Amino acid sequence: MKILFVGDVFGSPGRDMIKEYLPKLKTKYNPHVVIINGENAAHGKGITEKIYQQFIECGAHVITMGNHTWDNREIFEFIDHAKKMIRPANFPEGNPGKGMIFVTIGGKEVAVINLQGRAFLPPSDCPFKKADELVAEAKKRTPIIFVDFHGEATSEKQAMGWYLDGKVSAVVGTHTHVQTADERILDKGTAYITDVGMTGPYDGILGVNRDMILKRFLTSLPVRHDVAEGRTQLSAVVVDIDDKTGNAKKIERVLINDDHMFFE
Ligand SMILES: [Fe+2]
Ligand SMILES: [Fe+2]
Repeated sequence: MKILFVGDVFGSPGRDMIKEYLPKLKTKYNPHVVIINGENAAHGKGITEKIYQQFIECGAHVITMGNHTWDNREIFEFIDHAKKMIRPANFPEGNPGKGMIFVTIGGKEVAVINLQGRAFLPPSDCPFKKADELVAEAKKRTPIIFVDFHGEATSEKQAMGWYLDGKVSAVVGTHTHVQTADERILDKGTAYITDVGMTGPYDGILGVNRDMILKRFLTSLPVRHDVAEGRTQLSAVVVDIDDKTGNAKKIERVLINDDHMFFE
């Protein structure tokens, strides 16, 4: 089972990269399952139903989210029937949506779980305890379990990687928007990367127009966050998983921009 996971898609530059490169990535890697983190897909904040549908039409099987889940209020109108979307599972009880989904491809089932860290992010339930609960539920159906852990702190993400080592197929980090070069298979067979990185503007600051962010740093005044224009990038990972054991065999980084081309 091969899974392609694309990191935080940011605004229309990110969506354009999906349209241009997802077909090429599919040709090169032949993934069985495609997962896209879409928390920044609508102007950097949240997602709309139209964008969600576009991702599905482009071939995504699951859309994961993060701290920007509720930023575009349209989500409250469609999350209940967006069957392929998950948001962090450790959001407070009673929040709309769900945090785990099962995808069946060619008779094989994959569980995809979205969790959010608690360091430097809004309060949420314990992601570790929620992971235990969901992994136990998923294990009844399949050994192939993929986790998108949306977190700010590297330590918390490494902690989750080691906590779930041997219990899930992969723990991939999202949210910081910068790809880390620490992809590896942990001791007991879980693929891990601290952050997959972002898909969208390349010359902004985490996707946002850099003049605005610089103004914020220089003056501490509130600023608007517009999506940066200009060059673009795509960040992803491909994880190869043993169907029977659920252990990862390989994790490969994909980074497409004008300075790095881990993709031909
Ligand atoms: Fe993000
Ligand atoms: Fe985020």
